[in-house]
Amino acid sequence: MTKIFVVTGSNKGIGYAIVKGLSEKVPNAVIYLTARNPSLGEASLAKIESESMGKQVAEVKFHQLDVTNDESCTRLAEYLKSTHGGLDVLVNNAGISGNYKDLYIPLDPIDKEAEEVLGVNYYGTKRITNALLPLIRPGGRIVNLCSLMGVMDGSGYMAKSGAYGEKYKQKFKSPQISVNDVDKFVEDYIRLTKEEARTGQPKRKQEDFLEGPWAAYSVSKAADIAFTIALSKAVKEKNITVNGCCPGYVATDINNHSGPLTTDQGAETPIYLATELGLPNGNFFSERKVVPWP
Ligand SMILES: NC(=O)c1ccc[n+]([C@@H]2O[C@H](COP(=O)([O-])OP(=O)(O)OC[C@H]3O[C@@H](n4cnc5c(N)ncnc54)[C@H](OP(=O)(O)O)[C@@H]3O)[C@@H](O)[C@H]2O)c1
Repeated sequence: MTKIFVVTGSNKGIGYAIVKGLSEKVPNAVIYLTARNPSLGEASLAKIESESMGKQVAEVKFHQLDVTNDESCTRLAEYLKSTHGGLDVLVNNAGISGNYKDLYIPLDPIDKEAEEVLGVNYYGTKRITNALLPLIRPGGRIVNLCSLMGVMDGSGYMAKSGAYGEKYKQKFKSPQISVNDVDKFVEDYIRLTKEEARTGQPKRKQEDFLEGPWAAYSVSKAADIAFTIALSKAVKEKNITVNGCCPGYVATDINNHSGPLTTDQGAETPIYLATELGLPNGNFFSERKVVPWP
């Protein structure tokens, strides 16, 4: 049967390279390049076709998708159901970093940044996953683009200003971790940014969270890893594998092209998780290897 892949946020950056890489690797598959802006998506579809220069073994198609919009997510689900009867692999790649000048100078208040970044990176990932999950066939996969910045000892945190306190680290060490626990973690962070903005007190630090530049992004990526683990347990019986990964530090718009890796290099681990046989379930990977989390 033809395998159907969907890659979110794939008009540019790592998502674009994932679509291109899959289209040159998985024979007879259909790969959906999705974008919130249809003209950017259509232009990227044309670019992939010209860049691949006959190397494509799969078909690439475009469909509009904004992961923050319920209607857009439902429209894609209905389209996939009526066109293909289901889906095999969802790659949750869409993401944003927040608004920064010179990478470290925040341009938005902390509460606005938290709502926006978590709105795309956590709630957006969850929204499109929930919309497409009923379509994913047995043997199917979900691959979530997370980040080493979501590792809770702070080792991957760009601002290098700290780790989480024990409260959340202990909670996420539990084998019983659920999506509700992840929701609560994200709600707590958003609430604390509001209180901190209102009172000027360091509420996040007092409650065991990160603070400083890129904190919202790091929290969103910790939430994406936790969601990966919680979801993998919830869908195991359906024979669906859920894994997350860090693509590496890749030069894209998200970091003003400061990373050392190319987008093709960044696409390697996500493509591995989307295609390799015999992978473990419910893990966070970097460079194709499992990284302990939290
Ligand atoms: N680059 C790195 O070093 C790095 C490291 C670790 C993890 N990651 C993760 O890798 C993923 C891809 O990042 P990237 O570096 O390739 O960034 P990027 O070049 O900025 O690409 C991000 C993509 O997400 C899309 N997007 C943003 N909001 C969206 C929404 N509401 N609905 C649908 N799509 C949306 C963007 O579309 P528009 O063009 O319309 O904005 C764009 O296509 C992200 O999840 C990121 O957190 C990146």
